[in-house]
Amino acid sequence: MTNIEIRNHPKFKNVYISGSQEYLKLYTKNLDVGKRIYGEKLIIHKDIQYREWDPFRSKLAALILENPITNFLTDNLKCLYLGASSGTTISHLSDIIQSGIIYGVEFSERSIRQLIQNTSKRVNIVPILADARFPESYAKYFFTDIDLIYQDVAQPRQANIAVENCNYYLKNDGILIIAIKSQSIDSIQKSEYIYAQEKKILEKAGYQILESINIHKYAANHIILIAKKAIS
Ligand SMILES: C[S@@+](CC[C@H](N)C(=O)[O-])C[C@H]1O[C@@H](n2cnc3c(N)ncnc32)[C@H](O)[C@@H]1O
Repeated sequence: MTNIEIRNHPKFKNVYISGSQEYLKLYTKNLDVGKRIYGEKLIIHKDIQYREWDPFRSKLAALILENPITNFLTDNLKCLYLGASSGTTISHLSDIIQSGIIYGVEFSERSIRQLIQNTSKRVNIVPILADARFPESYAKYFFTDIDLIYQDVAQPRQANIAVENCNYYLKNDGILIIAIKSQSIDSIQKSEYIYAQEKKILEKAGYQILESINIHKYAANHIILIAKKAIS
């Protein structure tokens, strides 16, 4: 039992909130009841189990707390998730999209083992052991168009990797969300310069940056870009 009042997020379906605007906490309904993935709090409210979604552990939660304009979480979403790691964020996305599907690409064998252990009961996650720099190598796993590509690989060439995957898999009006960590691209250059370079790569490849959201409050040297293929 808890006396925390959990309510619907005003914009994102299947995301829940508690507290005042200043101290907002995020939650998702636990699809795998009783299971924790990363030590998150489980809370029962009106007989439903929720998992607290920590913005210091998940950049997608940080993004939602920064109030993006774009609503990228549609019902029945088909998502390609690059850099799935052991399952922190992808598990919340799995709670949210329910009957949609998420293809989670991860190249670390250790992380994918943990991902499989952590999410084995979640039928909407397809874990794929592969390198996101070679999108053609996982084409055989796909049986749907992709509405959203979410990329969090902390790699040099981040924007290029995103574009290559979008060109391969993203449907025409699909959305790309990319978490950019300046330190992973170049630890000497100023962050702002690196962000500008990555944006230029996306724009040159025909993507329109819809939003550029600073999440430094939750993750040092990170911004998140939301982009869409520009209509020509
Ligand atoms: C910052 S962590 C991702 C955290 C995860 N998105 C979350 O919030 O739960 C970056 C992950 O990307 C993976 N990664 C890095 N480069 C990759 C690549 N080229 N292909 C696939 N995975 C990659 C790393 O092994 C690591 O697990």
